[in-house]
Amino acid sequence: MNSTLFHTPVLAETAIDWLVTETEGKYLDGTVGGGGHLERLLKRLGPAASVMGLDRDPQAIAAAGERIGDDGRLRLKQGLFGELVHHAAGEGMLPLDGILLDLGVSSRQLDDPARGFTYREDAPLDMRMGPESGTTAAELLARCSEEELERIFRDGGEVRDAGRIARAVIRARRSAPLERSVELRRLVEELTPPKHLTKVLSQLFQALRIEVNDELGQLETVLTTSVDGLRPGGRLVVIAYHSLEDRRVKQFFRDEARGCTCPPDFPVCACGAVPRLRVLTRRVVKASQEEISVNPRARSARLRVAERAVTESVEGKRE
Ligand SMILES: C[S@@+](CC[C@H](N)C(=O)[O-])C[C@H]1O[C@@H](n2cnc3c(N)ncnc32)[C@H](O)[C@@H]1O
Repeated sequence: MNSTLFHTPVLAETAIDWLVTETEGKYLDGTVGGGGHLERLLKRLGPAASVMGLDRDPQAIAAAGERIGDDGRLRLKQGLFGELVHHAAGEGMLPLDGILLDLGVSSRQLDDPARGFTYREDAPLDMRMGPESGTTAAELLARCSEEELERIFRDGGEVRDAGRIARAVIRARRSAPLERSVELRRLVEELTPPKHLTKVLSQLFQALRIEVNDELGQLETVLTTSVDGLRPGGRLVVIAYHSLEDRRVKQFFRDEARGCTCPPDFPVCACGAVPRLRVLTRRVVKASQEEISVNPRARSARLRVAERAVTESVEGKRE
């Protein structure tokens, strides 16, 4: 495998500019992919720095290892970013100076027909990013109720006609299970006007992928746990490609930067909560037209950065 073709990193230099505050510090890349961001991060850091790279996909870890080669500062590990504090603690890397999350799938995962992420090729409807994601997309289509399927299609993909497609899946599986991407594609073709077909198919496949890999659950876990893994002033850099994920990151940063949760009409604060984060990107950061023209995937990228508030104690207790 040519690992340099694994994935073209999005907002690569920008993300590293935001991430690095201490060139001899400790950093964690929670979504190694093909190692594009990781390689740039290592170039930016000094000889005493240490870096951990995590990815749930063992193929990604192998590709990144091949790309980067021997580097004593780097530990690569297969694992979930929802458990990144645990992984970093195991390597004695806490507190961290920065955490990078470049969410979603890599181009390599999408383009590998054997993994079933794409409607463009015929393949088993698998869509698992790593060995720990138990249920395949075919299994979801076989066992979810109509209401569950509609919710999956609507929430994960904002799919037009989520209800109609869910009903059609239930009807179709009475005669034969939907096991291959081409079978799902045909079902959607029968329900969708040609001008909307590509959009509906990509939204539907994205929705299934998000559900199979519990991507929203993983995001929720990493947001709520990772702040405690940062030193005061340490940074969390998140690149999202899906509006639902970006909205959640924005909301989380906003809530954690506010601190006090008392109703606005309380004369004095009764909850005692202080801000845990300081938001550094007042406006979301997007890719330039120049980058989008060479890497169309960059079009939907939204980068946000927050740092752990320095008023907090290192143990994570609110003062
Ligand atoms: C957009 S790609 C990252 C690309 C990478 N930044 C690069 O420069 O090549 C997203 C990666 O995150 C991984 N991933 C997605 N969810 C994950 C999770 N919960 N835990 C760990 N890795 C995850 C995917 O397997 C994929 O390799």
